[in-house]
Amino acid sequence: MYKITEKKVLNEQVTSLTIEAPFIARKVKPGQFVIVRIDEKGERIPLTVADFDGEKGTVSIIFQAVGYTTKKLAALSIGDFVADCVGPLGLPTEFGNPKRAIVIGGGVGCAIAYPQAKALHNMGVKTDVIVGFRSKNIVILEDEMRKVCDNYYVTTDDGTYGEKGFVTNVLKRLISAEKYDLVIAIGPIPMMKFVSLTTKESGIKTIVSLNPIMIDGTGMCGGCRVTVGGETKFACVDGPDFDGHLVDYDSLMSRNGFYREEEAEHACRLGAYNNG
Ligand SMILES: Cc1cc2nc3c(=O)[nH]c(=O)nc-3n(C[C@H](O)[C@H](O)[C@H](O)COP(=O)(O)OP(=O)(O)OC[C@H]3O[C@@H](n4cnc5c(N)ncnc54)[C@H](O)[C@@H]3O)c2cc1C
Ligand code: FES
Repeated sequence: MYKITEKKVLNEQVTSLTIEAPFIARKVKPGQFVIVRIDEKGERIPLTVADFDGEKGTVSIIFQAVGYTTKKLAALSIGDFVADCVGPLGLPTEFGNPKRAIVIGGGVGCAIAYPQAKALHNMGVKTDVIVGFRSKNIVILEDEMRKVCDNYYVTTDDGTYGEKGFVTNVLKRLISAEKYDLVIAIGPIPMMKFVSLTTKESGIKTIVSLNPIMIDGTGMCGGCRVTVGGETKFACVDGPDFDGHLVDYDSLMSRNGFYREEEAEHACRLGAYNNG
């Protein structure tokens, strides 16, 4: 059992939980994830480690309540326990030796982008961060991001905060004005696709973090297969980071929608249960 020691509600849908998991906290590196199971009958869901403290023995996860399990997880409180927290899983991010980097986070993808920006900052890399949200009221992790970057740019779809429009508008401006040798993009699949198309023209190394449906998280079930450079890869053991210029985003999008009806039915059942 893994105890919840901190809880923060970051916006209406996004929650941060800090969990006591000393083994994971000592081993985990940016880019890796855990698989959490709330109780013995619960499903296993993958969540990226957004932050960790090896000395305190804690890891933090930040997640959007989108369906049955994430809604149940968001309802837990400090002092509650989750049955399992398995990890660290996946390969750590391979940053190389960049001189100047851009880290891009879209929506809750900022939670996954934050440890990347922090790691680059700690490596002494000059790092700019671009974040994109639908609207001002759902912006998360602004203070945290500002502390680990040289320049912070925010865009919103409706123009209520920062620049109106998409992260790719800012990206195009930055890469046409200065030389960057690494871009990391994490967020909705279309965002990662269009960031990768933008950087491909200039040949800038681009890393994306993929989020296919995962079941075992250990390379055994094949559930998380993705096509990268024409080859089949398992995101849980070969990723979740991949070369953004080689990913087949369209097949990833269609595979992720495969269980939509079952997921909606399950979420409805949770609603009925919560309403008595
Ligand atoms: C490596 C990895 C890291 C992730 N990190 C984060 C994170 O840090 N924060 C965050 O908010 N989300 C993260 N996700 C997505 C998160 O796992 C899903 O939102 C969660 O599993 C949804 O479960 P649910 O029961 O609440 O929703 P459901 O109603 O079951 O599903 C809602 C949507 O979530 C996705 N999903 C469902 N089950 C899974 C599964 N087993 N594996 C992957 N995706 C699934 C599907 O796209 C689905 O359409 C990550 C996914 C992967 C693969
Ligand atoms: S989740 Fe089963 S192979 Fe990756």
